[in-house]
Amino acid sequence: MSSQFYITTPLYYVNGEPHIGHAYTTILADVLARYHRLFDDRQVHFLTGLDEHGQKVSQSATERKVTPQQHCDRMAETWKEVWYKLGISNDDFIRTTEPRHEKVVIDFLNKVYEKGDVYKQEYDGWYSVYEERYFTEKDLVDGKDPICGRPVERRKETNYFFEMSKYQDWLIKHYEDNPDAVLPAFRLNEVKGFLKQPLGDLCISRPMSRLDWGIPIPWDDDYVTYVWFDALINYFSATKTPPVGLKVDWPADYHLIGKDILTTHAIYWPIMLYAAGYEPPKHILAHGWWLDKSDARMSKSDGNVIEPLVMAEKYGSDEFRYFVMKEMVVGQDAGFSEEIFVQRINSDLANDLGNLYSRFAKLYHQFGWSKYKLSEEKWGSFSTELAERAHNLESVVKREIEALRPHAAIEEIMMLIRGLNQHVEHLEPWKNAKIEPDKTALAMLDVLDALMLVAELLVPVMPAKMALLKQWIDDDVHVPQKTEQLFPRIDMKKLKLESAKAEKSDNPAEMTIDDFAKLDLRVGVVTSAKKAENSDKLLVVEVEISSEKRQVVAGIAGSYSPDELIGKRVIVVSNLKPVKLRGILSQGMLLAAGSGEEIGLLTLDKDIPSGAKIH
Ligand code: ME8
Ligand code: MG
Repeated sequence: MSSQFYITTPLYYVNGEPHIGHAYTTILADVLARYHRLFDDRQVHFLTGLDEHGQKVSQSATERKVTPQQHCDRMAETWKEVWYKLGISNDDFIRTTEPRHEKVVIDFLNKVYEKGDVYKQEYDGWYSVYEERYFTEKDLVDGKDPICGRPVERRKETNYFFEMSKYQDWLIKHYEDNPDAVLPAFRLNEVKGFLKQPLGDLCISRPMSRLDWGIPIPWDDDYVTYVWFDALINYFSATKTPPVGLKVDWPADYHLIGKDILTTHAIYWPIMLYAAGYEPPKHILAHGWWLDKSDARMSKSDGNVIEPLVMAEKYGSDEFRYFVMKEMVVGQDAGFSEEIFVQRINSDLANDLGNLYSRFAKLYHQFGWSKYKLSEEKWGSFSTELAERAHNLESVVKREIEALRPHAAIEEIMMLIRGLNQHVEHLEPWKNAKIEPDKTALAMLDVLDALMLVAELLVPVMPAKMALLKQWIDDDVHVPQKTEQLFPRIDMKKLKLESAKAEKSDNPAEMTIDDFAKLDLRVGVVTSAKKAENSDKLLVVEVEISSEKRQVVAGIAGSYSPDELIGKRVIVVSNLKPVKLRGILSQGMLLAAGSGEEIGLLTLDKDIPSGAKIH
C-alpha cells in the first residue's frame, strides 16, 4: 500500500457560484479526507480547485464586462470563501490559469504529440457550447445536445485530434483487471457498455480565432487547448507543485465526480494518462444528483439551485454538512427540501444528540457527580447489546467509510446515540440518583464516556460543533456550569411565519401621504466610485447632494463598473440612519430595481440640480 491517500473533487467551472451539487462533492471529499486523517496511517492529500478556461467562462466574463482573468480572480475568492465557511480542509487549491498547471499541460501535449498520437483534420459536426464539445449527427436527441437538451450549432473547422481509438483495447482490459476502478459498480458497467462501441478520437484544440481563452497549443499558435484536455490534467499537475512542505505522488486514490462527467473521467482521462506514460487513477467515484421538487437536476443554468451558504448561514454549516451526508446514499440521486432538512436537525441533532448532552449536564450539577470517577470496566453499566455497540462503533464506522457509505457510518453513530437515550430513560436518573446515588452516577458517567466517543467519530462530519462538544465534555471531568444547547431546536412554526411575513412585505400595506413624507429623497450626483476592498458585490460611491458629500455603499458591483457611475444623477434616501456595511460607513441609500447581475439604478432624465427634493 502506498504511503498516501490522495483525493480530489472536480475542478468546478468559474462561470457561476457554488450550489448544493458542488458543495456536496466537496463536503463528501472533505468528510472522507477527514476520516482518513483520523483512521489511516497514510498521509492524506485533498485537492480541489477551479476550471477557468473555455468558452463558458469567457462568455460569463463578457457579460460582466471584465476580462476573463479578472472574472476568474474574482470568482476564485468567492469559491474559496464558500469552502472556508463550509469547513473544507483541502490541502491544495488549484486553478487552471496558474502557471504551475499550464506548464504541465504543455509538457503533456508535447508528449502525446511527439509520440504521434495527435493529427490535424477538418471536422464537420454539431457543437454544443454548453457541453463544450462536438456531437455526431447520430448522437443528437431531437436535434439537440443529448446530455443537456440545449441547442447545438453546425461547425466546420480544422482542429487537432487525439487518437483515443488507439487505446480502446487497453482501456477495456484495464477495466476487466480493475473492477473497482469505477465506483459504484453499476457505473463501471455503463462505462464498459460505452466501450463496446468504437471510440471516436478526441478533438483537443479550438481555433484561436473563435476562442482565445485557453492554453496555447505548443506547436501551433493558431490554436488553444480544449478545456477538458486542460482541466483533467490538474489532478496530475497539482502533484508536481504541491504547497510548500507537502509531497504528493501520482496516481490519485479517488477522483470524486458527479455522474454528469463520467465519460470524461472514466474514458478520456485514463487514456490521456496512458498515452503520456502515466498510471491511471486508482478509483473514480461517481455520485448521483441533487434534484429539485420536480425531480430535475439542480443546475446553475436552470436556476433551481439551493445555495449552500444561504442554508449554512440560516441553519449552520455543520448542520448542512450533516444533512447532505446523511441524506444522500453515495451513487444515488436525492432530493433537497428545506422542511426535511429542518426536521432532521430537530430530530437527530437537537433531540437525540443535543438533548443527551444537555440532559446529562443538568443532572451532573443537580446531583453533584463531580465526586465520582469513571469505573474501570468500560461501559460496564450498559446492557450487553449497548456495550457491544459502543465497543464496535469505531471499527464499524471505519468499515462503512472504506466502503464509501458515509450515510451508513452516520446512521451507526446515531443508533448508539438513540441507544444511550433509551438507556437513560431506563435508568431514570432524575429519580434514582436519590435512591441509588453511586450506581446511577457511575452509569451516567458511562453515558458521558460514550458521548465522547460519538463526538470523536462525528468530528469529520461536523468539525466545529464536535470540537465544541469535546471541549464541553473535556475528559469526563469538567462540565460547563451552563447547560447550553449544542443544537438549538428550530421552530418550524416560526420559520413559516417569517416566510409568510416576507411574502406580505411584497404587497405592503396602504400608507398616507404623511408616511411617504418621512422619506427624504434627494437628487445626488456621483463624483467618485470604487470597489469595496473586501467584497465582490459592493461599490463605495461618493455622491454630492447640494454642497454636501456623502459616502454610500451600494450592492451594484455586478451591474456597474465604478467608471460608468461618475456623473450620473441618482436618487438618494438621504435621511437614512448611517450604517456600516462590511466595515465601511454608508450614509444613505441609492434607489435601484432588480437583483443579482441585473440591477438598474434610478436616475433622472433631466439635469435637475443635485440636492433637489423628490416629490
Ligand atoms: O463539469 N448534484 O464543472 P461543473 C450533485 N469543470 N452534484 C452536482 C450537481 C447536482 N445537481 N451539479 C453539479 C465541470 N454537481 C468541469 C469539471 S474536472 C477536471 C472538470 C457537482 O462546475 C458534481 O460533482 O459543471 C459535478 O460533477 C460537478 O459539480 C460539475 O461541476
Ligand atoms: Mg456541468
